[in-house]
Formats: sequence, structure tokens, C-alpha cells
Amino acid sequence: MDDNRIFKFQKQDSIGSINSVDTGLAYAVINSDETLSALQVNQLVAIESPEAGKHIIGMIIKIYRKADINNLSIEESEELEEVGVYNQIKLVFIGELRDKLGNDRNVFKRNVSNVPRINAQCYRIEGEVLTDLMQSISSCIKSGIHPLSIGKYSMDESSVAYLDGNKFFQRHAAIVGSTGSGKSYCVAKIIEEMSHLKKVNAVLFDIHGEYSSPDFKMDGIKQYKIASPGDLATKDKLSNGILMVPYWMLNYEEMQALLLDRSDQNAPNQAMLLSKEIMIGKENKTKSSTYSGLVTLDSPVPYDLNEVLLKLKEYDTHLDEGAKPGTTKQGAYYGKLTRFNQRLENKLQDKRMGFMFSVSDEEMNLDWLKSFCHTVMGDDGSVKVINLSEVPSDVLPLVIGLLSRIIFSVQQWSGQDKAHPVALLCDEAHLYVQHLESSDSVARIGLKSFERIAKEGRKYGVGLVVISQRPSEVNRTVLSQCNNFVSLRLTNVDDQNVIKRLLPDNLGNIADNLSLLDIGEAIVVGDATLLPSKIRIDEPSIKPSSQTIPFWDIWAKDKSSQDLDEAVDNMIKQSK
Ligand SMILES: Nc1ncnc2c1ncn2[C@@H]1O[C@H](COP(=O)(O)OP(=O)(O)O)[C@@H](O)[C@H]1O
Ligand SMILES: [Mg+2]
Repeated sequence: MDDNRIFKFQKQDSIGSINSVDTGLAYAVINSDETLSALQVNQLVAIESPEAGKHIIGMIIKIYRKADINNLSIEESEELEEVGVYNQIKLVFIGELRDKLGNDRNVFKRNVSNVPRINAQCYRIEGEVLTDLMQSISSCIKSGIHPLSIGKYSMDESSVAYLDGNKFFQRHAAIVGSTGSGKSYCVAKIIEEMSHLKKVNAVLFDIHGEYSSPDFKMDGIKQYKIASPGDLATKDKLSNGILMVPYWMLNYEEMQALLLDRSDQNAPNQAMLLSKEIMIGKENKTKSSTYSGLVTLDSPVPYDLNEVLLKLKEYDTHLDEGAKPGTTKQGAYYGKLTRFNQRLENKLQDKRMGFMFSVSDEEMNLDWLKSFCHTVMGDDGSVKVINLSEVPSDVLPLVIGLLSRIIFSVQQWSGQDKAHPVALLCDEAHLYVQHLESSDSVARIGLKSFERIAKEGRKYGVGLVVISQRPSEVNRTVLSQCNNFVSLRLTNVDDQNVIKRLLPDNLGNIADNLSLLDIGEAIVVGDATLLPSKIRIDEPSIKPSSQTIPFWDIWAKDKSSQDLDEAVDNMIKQSK
């Protein structure tokens, strides 16, 4: 006999036997009252397989106590059909363990090749046997020298829980949980694991500056920030960690959404003249370059928006020669651009939008986009944290959508076989990957990038990790494309329902207690994990700056650390 087997059950170890089987679940009659009361929901049970050398693994999802026939109410009598006159448990099949597969011992497979027969014996998986099983499951996923480990199985805290790093990023993932449930810690833990990889490539959109403090630094993490008004005069911004998002990166549709008021009766003329002048600007810029004659309205090529504005002002005030010599009449577009030009002028002067409209010579360089891409998605083996905490919230969807679109396009144009995979980690995704029925066009435009990446990203090596405390407010198209869920404690019923609906249905009630999870504890489901399970996420070694403020403790101190004058100064300067 093979001694390396994890399961070495003897007939006398049996806790009961199967008395009803379906494709995905079974009922087992439990031998004694004592055994029944020792069982718990979510516990694992090994079931004899019709094939030798195999056991089916089931998870208990319901426990029924033998009905007392003499004391039944009418409803209970109706239920009797289900409950029966035995002590029973309801099990869902979650996989099978083969003692041997080729040269490998104790191999866990998620699919069950053969359901158990009636009367198959059931055995409890506990203690050392459980540890061995969890470790063999872990080692089936563990790959490479730096496997993606995120914590320990709650079921058996001595077993490290690994995720399949390929599948986790390939097929998109979502990390959800109410505020304070441990999402940011979980993200930090994953980033820490990623940062061990030599050529890791990922961008984290940091909305609150949680990951941008000097404490959140280590090899494999680079921090950038979107330019605030105070940063605009900085020289050599890119190498100083300051990112501009110049307007000329916007494609025509985005530009229109940002500037055009569709309710204006002159909108068609305004759009036509704007595109004409932008095109002229782009052609001029590329005239003596390799791009000459090849650019389109959507090509991300610098052009001078101030010049465009001057031209548009000319149209707006242009007078043609009148019929009689010496007289004048209004030109074809006279007065039709006034409101548009005003809007454009306001945008150009809006300090809050300086990162987009106050471009300097540096960003007007034809090669700037290359440096930009090397910075944000270069394969220098780092996770790039982009601090967006000073970007006005109304343009957040546009800015992040634009950055994501540029990254996605570059991947597309790299060709499928050459693109170096990149992951986009979207913290607080409900703020810019929104679920909107109707919305202003600016927010909608940003969303389009994400819907596209969710659907097609896999082909071009762009993986999304959606992180949110309000999954019910996150775009459904995007969420439904996520194949992996790390769900921390979720207290809101709407949010719970959204997540439950997205989980595969053979999981029984594993998702029923989302509101009961401890801080840092998550239910992890998806193709990146072999076993849908409760995992206690490890505390990361570098921690995001906490959003959890201990009011009472701070109030109890002698002194406050707040500098109100400085805060007011910052508020006036709109910059920290
Ligand atoms: N895995 C964990 N291990 C230990 N403590 C944790 C863990 N996750 C969260 N915490 C605690 O909970 C607090 C809030 O976590 P955080 O990740 O900021 O929540 P969220 O991002 O969901 O609002 C942290 O400051 C930390 O004290
Ligand atoms: Mg957080």
C-alpha cells in the first residue's frame, strides 16, 4: 500500500453514507447524534468515489437533525420530504483528490469525474489530514519561485493560501469589501508579492493617496503623481515623478465630450471647425517627422490648443467683403463660436485642470509620449502607483479612462505576441468605473475604455483588478467580466447581492455570511483558486496609510497634530 496517501480512511472512521445524489450535490445520512452535532457548515468531507484511488471532496452546506415525527407542525410535515427521518447533511462537491496521478501524489482536481454511489461512505477531514489536504491543494497552484501567496486558509491556519497568478490577472479580478474591511491591506499584500517579480508591470490608481506616502516604498514600487497647480513650473517633470496628461492625448471623441455643449444649436459647426484646426495643428507638428502625412484626428500628437483657439476666434469675428465696395458683411461662422470659445478659454485657464491644459515645451515634444509610456508602463519591474488625490473629482473618470485607454492602445499596437502584460489596479473603482444608466458624456467616455479592457484586455495582456467598497455602484459590464473575487466583509445588502449573483451557483451558501467576516478575512472564489475558501489575508509588510481614524484615542491626547494655517494655504493653492 502507498503510505504517502493523505486519505487513509478505515471503514470504522465513516461518519455516514450517501443516500441521495445529484450532479453537483448529495445528501448523506449521519450515523449518530453525537457525530451530527460535531459537524459544522463549511466543513470538508471526503466521500468514497466509485473509482479506486480517488475521493470526492464535499463541503457541508446544511445540516438537518432527524425530524421528530410526533411533534411536527404542518409546515414541518411538508418539509419532512426533504429532511426525512434521518440525521442528514447536504454537501456540494468541490473537487476530488487522487492518491496518484502519473508521478504526482495527492493531486487535487476541481472537477469531479464521477459522482458517488448510494451508500458511499463519508469521512471527516480534520486535523493533520486537513492540513495535508490544504497543503497539497496549495502546492497544486503554487508555481514559479515567487508564487502569489495572499494569506492562510481560515479552515486550517497552518496552510498558506496561494492564488494562480496567471489566472488572477488574465481573467480580471475584483476585490470588494465595506470600508475598513481590509481592501487596501489586501491590495498592499498583492503589490508586495508582485514587487518580487523581476519584470512586473502594473499601474495602481491611487485615489486618496493611500499608497503614495513615503512609508509605502520598496524595491519594485514607483510613485508618481498627477501634476497639481503647484507642480506645473517643475522642470523635467517625468523624471521627477510628476505626470502631465496633456489634452492632445485625448482622441476626438473625448475632446468633443470635454468641450462641446451638444445642446448648443451651433454645435455641429463648432465640432467641424475644431476638428479642422486640430488636424492642421497635428499636421504642422509632424510635417518634418516620420509621421508626416500619416496622422489622423485621433493620433496622439501634440498641437497647440492656444493657436486653435486663436483661429476659432477669427472665424467667430470674421467679416467678409460686402456686395458694395467698401462695405462688409458677417462671415459664414460669425458669432457661432462665441460660447464654444469661451468654454475653451475657461478650460485653458482652469488651474485645477493644469495637468491637462497648462502644457509646457516638455510635453509638446513629439517624443514625449514615448517617455510617458516608458514611465507608466515600462517593463522596469515595478508597480507604478499614480497618485490622483489632487485631481478634481468631476474629471477623474476622464483622466483615468484616458490613461487606461493609452495603455490599452499601446498594448494593442504592440501586437499580441509581443505586448508585455500589464495590470491595472483600480482602487475606489466605483468613482470612475461607474454603473451609470444616464450620465454626462465626460464620465461615459472614460467608462468606455474600461468596458473595452474588461472585454478584450485578456487578448492584449491587460488585466483589470477592480477594487471597491460599493460593488453595486461599479459598472456591471466590467464586474461581470471579472473571474476572480476576493470578497472581504460586505455589510450592505445591495452590495452582497451583486457579489452573490456573480459567484458560481454550486458554492452553496459560502457567500451567505459575507457580513460576518472578520477584518482581513475574505472569501476567495474564481479560477485562480482551486478551492473556493475563506482566507485570512496576511498583513502586508508595507502598509497603506490608514483611512481608519481612531477618533476617541486622538481626542484623548494632549495635542493635535493638525496645522490649520497650512491646510487653508493648501486649500487656496489647491495643492499639498
Ligand atoms: N489583513 C489584515 N491583517 C491585519 N489587520 C488588518 C488587515 N486588513 C485590515 N486590517 C486593519 O483594518 C484597517 C483597515 O483596513 P483597510 O485595508 O484600510 O480597509 P479598507 O481599504 O477596506 O477601507 C487597517 O488599518 C488595519 O488596522
Ligand atoms: Mg481602502
